[in-house]
Amino acid sequence: MGHLEWDDAYEVGVPVVDEQHRDLLCSIRMAITQMSEGDNSQELSPLLDRIAQYTGVHFKFEEDLMEAYADPRLQAHRDEHASLLPQLCRFKARNLAGVSSHKLERVSAFLSVWLSTHINTQDRSLAAHLKLVGAKEAQA
Ligand SMILES: [Fe+2]
Repeated sequence: MGHLEWDDAYEVGVPVVDEQHRDLLCSIRMAITQMSEGDNSQELSPLLDRIAQYTGVHFKFEEDLMEAYADPRLQAHRDEHASLLPQLCRFKARNLAGVSSHKLERVSAFLSVWLSTHINTQDRSLAAHLKLVGAKEAQA
């Protein structure tokens, strides 16, 4: 399975969240592919900024959902979301000049591991809470 490919094993059982995860992986993958087809004098920063923007929109959605249903793990989840940004910034700082397939592969591998781990822990816990309280979003 390639990096950032959707796998049904990522499903947490909340349709709106699963759909956003599918779209998020797809958007990130497309942005990386687009850059890999461009010339390699480009910089990596705009790509990382776009990824930060895509993930930021989705993270906000999840946090709002947790807040609306008083999920007691909101703060820990929010902290984990927030921890992605400085990691993307470190990527930027280390890779100032030029894009290479090796760099893009590293970004892709890093995000793939980060997102799949996050989905399988924090997001599963969010889904369990929504089901527990009978949230309408958790109904199939
Ligand atoms: Fe999350």
